[in-house]
Amino acid sequence: MLVTTLSSSDRTWVRERTELLFGGDTVVSRDVVHQPSELPGFIAMEGSERIGLATFKIDDGRCELVTLDALCQWCGVGTTLLEAVEKAARAEGCTDIWLITTNDNLDALRFFQRRGFCITTVRVNAMEHIRRLKPGVPLVGSYGIPVNDEIEMEKALADGECWKVV
Ligand SMILES: CC(C)(COP(=O)(O)OP(=O)(O)OC[C@H]1O[C@@H](n2cnc3c(N)ncnc32)[C@H](O)[C@@H]1OP(=O)(O)O)[C@@H](O)C(=O)NCCC(=O)NCCS
Repeated sequence: MLVTTLSSSDRTWVRERTELLFGGDTVVSRDVVHQPSELPGFIAMEGSERIGLATFKIDDGRCELVTLDALCQWCGVGTTLLEAVEKAARAEGCTDIWLITTNDNLDALRFFQRRGFCITTVRVNAMEHIRRLKPGVPLVGSYGIPVNDEIEMEKALADGECWKVV
């Protein structure tokens, strides 16, 4: 697997992936509307095929992982892309990396906790508000679980340990 920097020739594909994963070409986090296709990121390639995508945003010394999308699950794609984003964040001097997922996303909750992230905030019923901004967000998500709550996770980059207890 090869990891390349997201380039302008990937933008249409990034928009398609965002539509599939998030029910629209935008992602909303903390009331900020992101267009992943316009963000910096990394693409995982197997030969000439794109098999994964990560986009991020660096702001005020923190790195937000806006999307992480492995087309081949349990193949190491997510780990490889997360490592690339962490490396970029460290190079920019970020103190930490954070992300938002939803209560149904058990695969992501497992994946990120196994990689040093901790849960810092749970916004109960936040998806109701998100649906007003993005009506395409599904009511039912992974494993048939209703998509209700936002879960914020973060990892300090200094020592890679969870440092906040909630
Ligand atoms: C969450 C997500 C990004 C994880 O990506 P992934 O590519 O499946 O993750 P990896 O394959 O790197 O790691 C998952 C497990 O597979 C294992 N694995 C990696 N390579 C493997 C291989 N070749 N064979 C078998 N298992 C393997 C890893 O060891 C890991 O297990 P661990 O957590 O116990 O260490 C992925 O499920 C996904 O894209 N989900 C949909 C989008 C999403 O929810 N994104 C996150 C929120 S923005």
